[in-house]
Amino acid sequence: MSARVVVLISGTGSNMAALLDAAADPAYGATVVAVGADRAAAGLARAEQAGVPTFVVPFSEYSDRSEWNRALAERIAEFAPDLVVSAGFMRILGHEVLRENTVINIHPALLPAFPGAHAVRDALDYGVKVTGATAHFVDEGVDTGPVIEQVVVRVEDGDDAASLHERIKTVERRMLVDVVGRLARHGWALNDRQVKLGGAPSKDVTEENR
Ligand code: GRF
Repeated sequence: MSARVVVLISGTGSNMAALLDAAADPAYGATVVAVGADRAAAGLARAEQAGVPTFVVPFSEYSDRSEWNRALAERIAEFAPDLVVSAGFMRILGHEVLRENTVINIHPALLPAFPGAHAVRDALDYGVKVTGATAHFVDEGVDTGPVIEQVVVRVEDGDDAASLHERIKTVERRMLVDVVGRLARHGWALNDRQVKLGGAPSKDVTEENR
């Protein structure tokens, strides 16, 4: 049986699109059953084209964070997901969503370095020579949950935030597709902060400086 995945986005949704492409193969083990957003995100159109139900829970329409979280939790629950994937979703999820769901997030830096909304710019400003992308389980902190997988990207001379983010996103998408497939097909074990993901990483992830 295929794992039911709800993806949350705020923007372009290229990571979500990579999951949709991967899930077109029944052997992948996961199906995107809905795509949700906190605003009229551009990526929703891609999900609609693929015939995947979409929903928007606009943050601006709720009087406080916990009301918004409750509304989001209700919409997510309609799709009975096994896994919720935050892929470029630019909001902090509260316990209303987290207590009912297993949620993973992707982040464009090697956590715990450079958490928060400006990770690529912060890494560049700091002057690091390598950065990358992290997949992690979501807890109530900001990018603090147990790390599932990380991939490394070198900072090149002349990089700006846009060029570096594009290279990070290329490896981040492969990592996300690999991680969601392995979580769905093989499961995982969590002991303290140590995550043991079942199965073996796909070649295009190991070949990328992992
Ligand atoms: C990704 O790099 C994600 O880690 C960050 O925002 C980007 C989203 O890109 N939080 P997309 O919307 O999936 O194209």
